[in-house]
Order: sequence, then C-alpha cells, then structure tokens
Amino acid sequence: MRGGARLAGEVDVAGAKNSVLKLMAAALLAEGATTLSAVPDILDVAIMSEVLRRLGCTVQRVGGTLRIDVPARPGHEADYDLVRRMRASIAVLGPLVARCGEAKVALPGGDAIGSRGLDMHVAGLVKLGATVESEHGYLIARAPRLTGAQVWLDFPSVGATENLLMAAVLAKGTTQIDNAAREPEIVDLCDLLVQMGAQIGGIGTSTLEVEGVEHLRPVAEHATVPDRIVAGTWAIAAALTRGDVLVSNGRAEHLEIALDKLTTAGAAVSTEPGGGFRVRMDRRPRAVDVVTLPYPGFPTDLQPMVLALNAVADGTAMVTENVFEARWMFVNELSRLGADVRTDGHHAVVRGRAQLSGAPVTAHDIRAGAALVLAGLVADGVTEVAEVHHVDRGYERFVPKLQSLGADVRREAAPEEPPLALG
Ligand code: EPU
Repeated sequence: MRGGARLAGEVDVAGAKNSVLKLMAAALLAEGATTLSAVPDILDVAIMSEVLRRLGCTVQRVGGTLRIDVPARPGHEADYDLVRRMRASIAVLGPLVARCGEAKVALPGGDAIGSRGLDMHVAGLVKLGATVESEHGYLIARAPRLTGAQVWLDFPSVGATENLLMAAVLAKGTTQIDNAAREPEIVDLCDLLVQMGAQIGGIGTSTLEVEGVEHLRPVAEHATVPDRIVAGTWAIAAALTRGDVLVSNGRAEHLEIALDKLTTAGAAVSTEPGGGFRVRMDRRPRAVDVVTLPYPGFPTDLQPMVLALNAVADGTAMVTENVFEARWMFVNELSRLGADVRTDGHHAVVRGRAQLSGAPVTAHDIRAGAALVLAGLVADGVTEVAEVHHVDRGYERFVPKLQSLGADVRREAAPEEPPLALG
C-alpha cells in the first residue's frame, strides 16, 4: 500500500468470526439441519466446515448461509492437521462429549500470541463428571452422561465458558458457571442454544445457570451477530487516516469503550438512525491510554490497531495488555515503520510520531496483520505486509473494502496456507 489516503465512504461488516465458529460447533448438539446466516466468507469458516465434515456432517454454503446437517451418530475425533491450523477447533470438545459421551481433540499447541492454556476447559469438564486425559497429543474426554455442577472460572475465558456451556446444556441437572465471559459472541451462542431448546439463565451476565435437557433440536435460521472487532478495525482506520467512515451494520453498543477512546482521540462518533455508526476525524489523533480486559473492557483483538493509532498520535500513551502478553510481537514490526514503542511486561509506552515511514513488514496473526495494513495507510511511501494470509482468517474481502474506501492498496500474491493455528 502507498500511504496518504483518507478513508471515506460506507462499509458493512459480516457476522463475527469468533461467534460463527462456536455456532457451528453448537450445531453438533442436535441431529438434523441447522442453518446459520450472516456467515463471513473467511478462511476459518472453511476450516471449521472441514472439522465438521470429518465428524460426519454435511456442510453446504450458499452465499452468506451455511447449512450443517448433523448425523444421528457423529464421529468424535478432531485431528491435529486441522486443529493446528485453527485453535478454535477446540470448541467441538464440549459438544462432542455431551452428545457422544466421548471426544478426542488434538491439543492445539502454541501459537503466535501465546501459549493459551486449556486448564479451565479441562477443570470444568471434570467438574461436570468427565474424565479427561492427555495422550499422544490428544485431549480425550469421556462421560456416559455429564452431570450439572457449580463451576468457578479463575478468569472469564471465552473458550472455556463456551465449551462448558455447550457441555452443560445436555448434562443431567443444573450447572452454574461463575465468572463466565460475557462477550456478545457468548450471548449469540446462548441465543442459538436457547433456540435449540436449551434452558439458560443469566445470559449476558457473569453467572450462567444451565438446566440440562435430554435432547436439543436443530434450528432453521440463526443470524450471526455482526463482527465487533472488524467494525472496530474500520472505526480505528477512519480515525487513523483522518477519514469519514460509516460502518453500516456495526453495533456501537458492542464497542462502547473502543468508540469512547476514539472520541478522546478527537474523532466524532455518531450512531446512525438507520443503524450502524460513523467515525469522522479531521485532526491528528491525540494519544489515548488503553487497558485491554475481558468484555465489556477494551478488546485485546483491537490492541494492535490502537497501538498503530497511538504511533502517529500527538503525545505519549500507555497501552496495557492483560489478556495476551505475547501480542507484543507485533511491536517489532510496527517499529520497522518508525513507531516509537517500548514494552515492559504488560505495558507499552508509545510516543507518537508525526509520520510513519513505509517498509516491508510481516504479519504474525490476524489482528497484527490488519493493524500493519492500517499503519501502512499512514506511512510515507510504500509498505509491504508479508504473510497477509493471516488476515484472510478473519476479514472478509479486506483489500477490496479498503480500495472502495479510497486506499491505495493491492494484493500481490495468492493466499498461502496458514502455517499455524491462531485466533
Ligand atoms: N486461558 C488459560 N486457560 C484456559 C483458557 C484460557 O490460561 O483454560 C488464558 C489464555 O491463555 C489467555 C486468556 O486466558 O491468556 C484468555 O483466553 P480466552 O479463553 O478468553 O480466549 P480464547 O477463547 O482462546 C477468544 C478469541 C480470541 C480473543 C479472546 C479474548 C476465538 C476463536 N478466539 O480466544 O480471538 O482474543 O477470546 O477475547 O473466539 C482473534 O480473533 O484474533 C483472537 C485471538
């Protein structure tokens, strides 16, 4: 990309990656055809479709709709070749043990944003009566019938909350999940499960109460919640390039703190009467301090983009990462563009520069990739982002959408196979 363009116009966002992957896993809980709409056309959906096919499901995509036909007796094994490409494959663990009495899922291993343990997933399933062993690189969970229990999570883990929810809906008796994550994607998953016949109380709060049922039914249509991280990426892109972007179906209520930070940085943010929100900026951004936290805190998935914003802001900002410390890997790449960033433990101090300077850089994960592209838009001259296939994992038609907003950017190589599981 060649820096200097001001992004302006309208953009829409597809359904959330981090929701739809779990909705697809939840379909395993009922025999028959579940149909999801607003499904983003991204690589991770293709990988999860393959995970489900290998479990015996038929998965068909028509436009933004995905039909998942689940057999009476699905398989119960998810192989390493898929799990290593997409860590979110672990979301089939809970549904499979609940539905089949046994699940064998490859351990994902490390990835570019940290070691990401599964201890809370395992401890929760054990509380629900499963035996869980780790053997030959697989996690094997067994339980003829799970039984409801009280589970307290040490940290509101998104993945553990989802796996335990999907296990508890078919368990015998009542399960209470305390300190549960309450991201909008979890609310979306709860909504689908309720449509399937699950009994869940406390949806959207940090205490979920699940009354297990004997059977769930497939669902004829469920629309995936719009992707708040993609919407937030466009919002930050508008502020960064001193642009004017309408995110036509963005849900401002899912981005309250992030949009408030952009207002502090000097942007005008408004919700639009027809839905969506608009971000306008006509000045150099002011530096903004940000602390990432589980929802409703500032999302870790927007931390690289806010670091890029602060890199060209007026002043000095402190950015604190509380969820994935290894996300600082991205700082080395941003520094290649001339950013002045120092990290120490959870903290990064960013001293804003008037201008970044275009250079070749490398994307190590989805969000770092998107943030490097945004930084390139405000760098002097040409920036080349290598391994940009990471961005395909979570952003639908990213380059054409950037072009439609006026960015001088093009895609040079065909997508490559991602080497590692992320996201
Ligand atoms: N953790 C543990 N033990 C566990 C579970 C989590 O130590 O048993 C730790 C992790 O190591 C991490 C923290 O808890 O430090 C948060 O992990 P969490 O389980 O909340 O995250 P996740 O389910 O692995 C999802 C998203 C991430 C997003 C995080 C936080 C998906 C597929 N992934 O990951 O998305 O950053 O929640 O919001 O839903 C991305 O889209 O780029 C991405 C990385």
